[in-house]
Amino acid sequence: MTAQPVLVHTREDLRPARDGLDGTVAVVMTMGALHEGHAELIRQAKRHADHVAVTIFLNPLQFAQGEDLSRYPRTLDDDVKICAREGVSLIFAPTPDVVYPDGEPGVRVSAGKLGDVLEGASRPGHFDGVLTVVAKLLHLMRPDSALFGQKDAQQLLLIRRMTRDLDFPVEIIAVPTVREADGLALSSRNTYLSDADREVAQSLSRALHAGEAMSLHGPAAVRRAARDVLVREPLALVDYLVLVHPDTLEEVPEWYRGPALLAVAARVGTTRLIDNLPLQIG
Ligand code: PAJ
Repeated sequence: MTAQPVLVHTREDLRPARDGLDGTVAVVMTMGALHEGHAELIRQAKRHADHVAVTIFLNPLQFAQGEDLSRYPRTLDDDVKICAREGVSLIFAPTPDVVYPDGEPGVRVSAGKLGDVLEGASRPGHFDGVLTVVAKLLHLMRPDSALFGQKDAQQLLLIRRMTRDLDFPVEIIAVPTVREADGLALSSRNTYLSDADREVAQSLSRALHAGEAMSLHGPAAVRRAARDVLVREPLALVDYLVLVHPDTLEEVPEWYRGPALLAVAARVGTTRLIDNLPLQIG
């Protein structure tokens, strides 16, 4: 029988609980509604540290007016069960007034130019909100390492940049995207999808894999193969489909050979979905 995780909601309870963890600590940050993707992050975290701590916090700062904050699934009891099953030591599940006691913070972390493209172009301020809460949670949790999913590639890149540019003493570890058998990347937002939407949503990962199959033939062939899949699925309203350099997020030129990221965002029904595949071109 594994021990139950310690569940705390306040800074006052977090401090002694954190101090009570002997050895190294890896943190997995989440907004709750845990699924197998989050569970995989936890399992990888266990390989890197003596203890895994999970944060569950639906961060209002990274949602704009009109986004899905109010309908985002809230499933704390189930989340705690998953953490217990995966051998998590500590769960910090604060409310917004615990994280932001003075209301919205006037001082924030700026994501800079990399935060203005792709997801940032459709969601202004989103990555400042993400980086601000990740910085705060790193200070509160004091982990040796923190694990983030490749699923949110731009977020992962920006968190790496923040910890390097601002000298955070933490190791950032990436975990590959966990997918359904049909290829759909797991996401808490998949619960919004109807059965019909799910069929449409599959076209995102099919497009990425079609692009990947052409990676020996150069950027134009990759882009064409991916676009051809999405064109045949008019119910997926594509926001962007790009082949970019993984460090700069700039479109790679036709002569480019090397690592790249094929990334897509589309609206399916009322749900905005993102997915990506790291590729080797050439
Ligand atoms: P959330 O969407 O809950 O995701 C938490 C972590 O799980 C992120 O690192 C995300 O990339 C990872 N993840 C989600 N789906 C995944 C999948 N299918 N495979 C692998 N990893 C997956 O991302 C956030 O929360 C927030 O922005 C947060 C970092 C917690 C800051 O509020």
